[in-house]
Amino acid sequence: MSQNVYEVGKASQLSRQYGPYVQADWGYANHWYPGVFSDEVAERGVVGITIGGHDIAISRDQNGKAWALSDRCIHKGVKLSLKPMCFADGTITCWYHGYTYNLESGNLDTIVGSPDDKLIDNARTRTYPTEEFAGIIWVFVGDEDYPTPPISTDLPIKVTDKPNAIPHLQDPRIITRGIRRKLYGNWRLAVENGLDPGHLLVHWDNQIIVALDRAMPLGMKALKEDATELLDFEDGPKGVMNRYDLPDNYAPVFENPKVPDIKARGKWMPEIFRVSAWVPATLMVENWPIPDYAQYEFYVPIDDHNHMYFEVIAYWGGTPDQDKEFDMKYEHFFKPLGLLDFNNNDIMAREATEEFYEKRDGWNNEQLSDLDFSVVAWRKHASKYGRGFFESPDFDEE
Ligand code: FES
Ligand SMILES: [Fe+2]
Repeated sequence: MSQNVYEVGKASQLSRQYGPYVQADWGYANHWYPGVFSDEVAERGVVGITIGGHDIAISRDQNGKAWALSDRCIHKGVKLSLKPMCFADGTITCWYHGYTYNLESGNLDTIVGSPDDKLIDNARTRTYPTEEFAGIIWVFVGDEDYPTPPISTDLPIKVTDKPNAIPHLQDPRIITRGIRRKLYGNWRLAVENGLDPGHLLVHWDNQIIVALDRAMPLGMKALKEDATELLDFEDGPKGVMNRYDLPDNYAPVFENPKVPDIKARGKWMPEIFRVSAWVPATLMVENWPIPDYAQYEFYVPIDDHNHMYFEVIAYWGGTPDQDKEFDMKYEHFFKPLGLLDFNNNDIMAREATEEFYEKRDGWNNEQLSDLDFSVVAWRKHASKYGRGFFESPDFDEE
C-alpha cells in the first residue's frame, strides 16, 4: 500500500465520495433494528423506544407475540408507554382518554368512555413489522409504504469458516445475554469506533486484556487495498470486514520505536478474530471476548445526537449445565469486564468525538490517515446500501 491511501488529502473532497453517509445524521430508514430485549416486555406490558425519530410502543399479547405501533396517541399525541394499559387482549389503551388500538392492525377498536363514538373503526394508528429471536424484539422502521425486506438482509452473515464457529443471530440454538443503554453521540461515530483498527490504544490497559493475557496490539496495519473486505451478498446483508485473520491483509503493530514506553500487552490472539460492520448499524466481533463466542453491537439511532447501544454476547445453547455456565460467565466475566469496563472506553471515545462532528463540521475537518482505511470503506459501502434516510420529526425545526 502506498504511504498515502488517500490521493485526495482534503477531508472536504473525500467526504464527497460518501455523501449519502454524511447526510444520514438521523440514521438509515427502511431497515430492521433491535428494539428491546425480549425479557423487557411482559404480556400486556408496554415499552417505549425511539428509532430514527419514530416513537414506538412495543407490547406483547397473551399468546406471547410481540407487536409494535406508534407510541403517539392519535387523539392528543401523548406517549402510550408513559402509563401502560392493556385491558382487552390484543389491544393497547391510551391512559389519558381511553383510545384503544388493535395491536396487529392499529385500528381504533373502541374508546373506553365513549363506546358508540363515530371515530371507532374509522381511524387507526401506525404499526411496525416485528420479529423476535435471539432474545431480541426487532422492528422494521422507515417509510410506511416501504415493502418489508426479510430481516436476514440486515443481519451479519452466518460465518462458515469452521463448523459452529460463531452463533448466527437467526440460528435457533443461539443463546444471548446483553444490555442496552442510551448514549450521547451520533450513531455513525459509534459504528466507526467499533470497526476502527486504529483505536485499540483505548483498550491497552483494560481489565479483560490484563486478565486474559490476550494480545492487544497498538494498532492493526492494513497491508493492501482490500485488507478490509467488502461484503455485498445478493439479497443478503451488506457489510465490511477487517480480515485480521489473513496475515497478508493486516499486521498487528506491537511497538513503535518512537514511543518506547508503551508496548502491546498480552501474548495470544485467537486465530479468527475479525471485526465487521453491517448496514444499517451493526458490529460483529468474532471470537470475542474468548474463542467460540461472538459479541454483537447495535448502534440504533435515536436522533441525530443520541443512540441506543446494544451490547450482546452470543453463544451456542447446549445442555442445562452449559447454559448455566454461560450465565455464570456472563454475570461475572463478560458483563463486568467486557460490556462495562472494556466498552466504557469506547463510549468515552465516541462521546468525546461527537462535539467535533456536531459543532465543528467534523465530516469536512477531520484529517484521516492510513489508520482510517476501513472506516472509509464502511462509509462508502453504507452510502451505497442505506435504503433511505430518517428525518427530524420536529416540524418547526429550521
Ligand atoms: S391523548 Fe390518548 S386518548 Fe386522549
Ligand atoms: Fe473498542
